[in-house]
Amino acid sequence: MDVRIAVIGSGKIGSAIIKSIRQKYKEIKLIATRRNEESIKSLIDLGVEVTKDNNYAVSKSDLIILSVKPHHFPTVLKQVDKSLWKNKIVVSIMAGVKLSTLSSLIKEAEVYRAMPNINAIVSKSSTAFAENNGQHKELVEEVFKTLGNVYWLPEEYLDIWTALVGSGPAFLSEIIDALILGAVACGMPREIAYGAILDVLEGTAEMLRNTSNHPIVLRDQVTTPAGTTIRGLMVLEAKGVKSALIETIEAAYKRAVEIGNEIDKNIRNLIYDG
Ligand SMILES: NC(=O)c1ccc[n+]([C@@H]2O[C@H](COP(=O)([O-])OP(=O)(O)OC[C@H]3O[C@@H](n4cnc5c(N)ncnc54)[C@H](OP(=O)(O)O)[C@@H]3O)[C@@H](O)[C@H]2O)c1
Repeated sequence: MDVRIAVIGSGKIGSAIIKSIRQKYKEIKLIATRRNEESIKSLIDLGVEVTKDNNYAVSKSDLIILSVKPHHFPTVLKQVDKSLWKNKIVVSIMAGVKLSTLSSLIKEAEVYRAMPNINAIVSKSSTAFAENNGQHKELVEEVFKTLGNVYWLPEEYLDIWTALVGSGPAFLSEIIDALILGAVACGMPREIAYGAILDVLEGTAEMLRNTSNHPIVLRDQVTTPAGTTIRGLMVLEAKGVKSALIETIEAAYKRAVEIGNEIDKNIRNLIYDG
C-alpha cells in the first residue's frame, strides 16, 4: 500500500490504530501526533515518526486520521494551515462529529467518518464507516481492515454504532465484572471465575455466530424446567436488567448526538471567530 498516514491525537485508540497498521504494513510512512509526545516515544521503535506538530504531520501525509476528543478538534483545526488539507483523505473517528460538519470545515479534503472500538488493540475492532461517495473508499477500508471488520452504513446509524460498538467493550466489561463478583460471592477465587467467564463469552459468541440463531433460542436451550438457569433469569427479570441494558444503549446514543450538536455549535463560533 503506497500511502503516508498520520494519526492526529495518538491516545488510547489512536496508538492502537497506528500499531495495527504497522503490524500489517511494515514499509509505509506513519506519523503519530500527541500533545505530550514523550508518552508515545515507544512508537519510534516501530518506525513511526512522533511529533506534536499537527501542521507538519498533515503536510507530510496523504491520509489523516483524526483521533482527538471531539472538543479538541477546533484546536487541531486552528493548528493546521487550511491550505494543507487540499486533496488529503481525512478519516475522523471522533464520536458524534458529523460528515457535514467535517466537510464544511475541511472543504478541500475527502472526508470520511468512522467509528472503531478499543478492541483494535487486538485487531478485533468492528469499524463502521458512514456511506460516502469518496474516491478512496477502498484505500480507507484497507487501512481500517488492519483493525478488524469494516462495515459501510448510512450515517444515521453511526451514533447508534458509537453507543453499541464504540462503548460496547465498556458495557460488556462491567457485566463481566458483575458476573465474576457473583462467583466470588459464592466462594470461587476471582482468577478462576475470570478465565471461565471469558471462555463462556467467546463460546457464546461463536455459538450465536455459527448457528445464526436468535439469542433467545440459545437461552431456551440452556433453560431446563425447574433448573438453575431459570432461577437466575427470574432475578434478571425482577431487577429489570434487560430494560436497563436497552436504556444504557439509548443513553449512550443520545450523548453521541449531543456531542455532535455541541461540536457543531463550537465550530460555528470558530468560523465566526475567523
Ligand atoms: N477509546 C475508545 O474506545 C474510542 C472508540 C472509538 C472512537 N473513539 C474516539 O477516538 C477519539 C480519541 O479517544 P481516546 O479514548 O483514544 O482518547 P485519548 O486517549 O484521550 O486520546 C486523545 C489524544 O488526543 C491528544 N490530543 C489532544 N489535543 C491534541 C492536539 N491538539 N494535537 C495532538 N494531539 C492532541 C491527547 O494527547 P495528550 O494525552 O498528550 O494530551 C490524547 O492522547 C475520541 O474522539 C473518541 O470519541 C474512542
